[in-house]
Amino acid sequence: MEKMMINSEIQVVQMSDLTDDERTLVEMAIEATSRSYAPYSHFHVGAALQLKNGKRFIGCNQENAAFPAGICAERSAIFAAGAEYPDQPVTILALTARDTSGQLVAEPASPCGTCRQVIIETETRFQHPVRIILYGTKFSYVIDGIRHLMPLSFTEF
Ligand code: THU
Repeated sequence: MEKMMINSEIQVVQMSDLTDDERTLVEMAIEATSRSYAPYSHFHVGAALQLKNGKRFIGCNQENAAFPAGICAERSAIFAAGAEYPDQPVTILALTARDTSGQLVAEPASPCGTCRQVIIETETRFQHPVRIILYGTKFSYVIDGIRHLMPLSFTEF
């Protein structure tokens, strides 16, 4: 038997460690939480991304009484950007959330499996890694490419 080690690198940072673009995206993601439609979970998620051409998009979770019909913040931003600029790589994606008491999360919220799968497709499609910033008020995570969050991913058949 052979064992394989898979390493993930995740940087734990403060806002002051981020670049101007990254900080702007975090601020946009925070603002986007206030646009979220989350009457069922009361968990308001905001995302903001930047494309290679510098254009920025926001997204937020949109829930539905028929639960699977809703969509997460990350996918809402990625799909909106893809609709407007179908040939532009996503370079940075920032994410944050407000908990049920309306407070910004102290520790970063992490993308769900379905969103990770969509980020993988985005990277593969444009042959460009997505730098992921997960913001929390206590600390944030910076992740250089979705492979650090989803190893052995399904990319083709
Ligand atoms: N949610 C997101 O928007 N992004 C994620 O990656 C995880 C979960 C949303 C979906 C749902 O509206 C709420 O958070 C609670 O799961």
